[in-house]
Amino acid sequence: MAVSARRATVIDGKAVAAERRADLAKRVAALKADHGLTPTLAVFLVGDDPASAIYVRNKGAAAAAAGIRVIDVKLPATASEADLLARVGVMNGDPAVNGILVQLPLPKTIAADAVIDALDPAKDVDGLHPENIGRLAAGRDGLVPCTPRGCLILLERTLGTLDGRRALVVGRSNLVGRPAAQLLLRANCTVTIAHSRTRDLAAECRRAEIVVAAIGRSEFVRGDWVAPGATVIDVGINRVTGSDGKDRIVGDVAFAEVVEVAGAITPVPGGVGPMTIACLLENTYEAACRQRGLELDQ
Ligand code: GUN
Repeated sequence: MAVSARRATVIDGKAVAAERRADLAKRVAALKADHGLTPTLAVFLVGDDPASAIYVRNKGAAAAAAGIRVIDVKLPATASEADLLARVGVMNGDPAVNGILVQLPLPKTIAADAVIDALDPAKDVDGLHPENIGRLAAGRDGLVPCTPRGCLILLERTLGTLDGRRALVVGRSNLVGRPAAQLLLRANCTVTIAHSRTRDLAAECRRAEIVVAAIGRSEFVRGDWVAPGATVIDVGINRVTGSDGKDRIVGDVAFAEVVEVAGAITPVPGGVGPMTIACLLENTYEAACRQRGLELDQ
């Protein structure tokens, strides 16, 4: 029997993020006009990792475009942990600073956990402080990591309610996999977390109606792993050198294969990446409102 293949809907994260940033810019302007409050984000970049420098620059530009003030703190790779902790402490104590982001990875000489633990949880716009992780796990309000928050927004826009759906998260990082699983659980999915020790990853994938791929391995999730009609969210950002010698960015999902099978899929670039930035700005706005005791208008 001939079956006509239907390509997946490609989820336009760039457009969704642009819409949310435009909406946020209006709310930021209202916050300034009505309460004299300019949400302010301190961004720490330590060392000279080129990818981190690009991410930080993009975050800063997006914040400025939304009317959020950015305090850029750039430190050399030789900066000590004590120096970074002291500077984070200053931002914690400054009432004009509403959000603090320490770009990861940090140089090996600095313990990332110590720095994360030192953040004021109310200013932890990355949602990485143990208090925010605990709040998320307990289903309570708190700051939620930006990338998983962006994934959930795209899933809900694509599928409507996620109630009762079987979701597979591939990857268990603190930045993406674990919080994504918590958010899916909060949205009433039946959640499985797969990782490098999972026995039959392909079989786990085939059972899932939702796949969130966050493993950091180029084009790892293949077309024959994905159930027909599944929704696939690709969190990967991997730089690979093509046969033409040119570098390009690919995700954790073999897009050309999976787009032929899935119901919907995010592209790389232009899927989850722009949503991460939009959610960082929203977290900063929300942190500023909460610190002032203002009701969130969304
Ligand atoms: N490095 C890669 N992604 C992120 C992120 O979302 N937040 C921080 N702080 N560092 C990152």
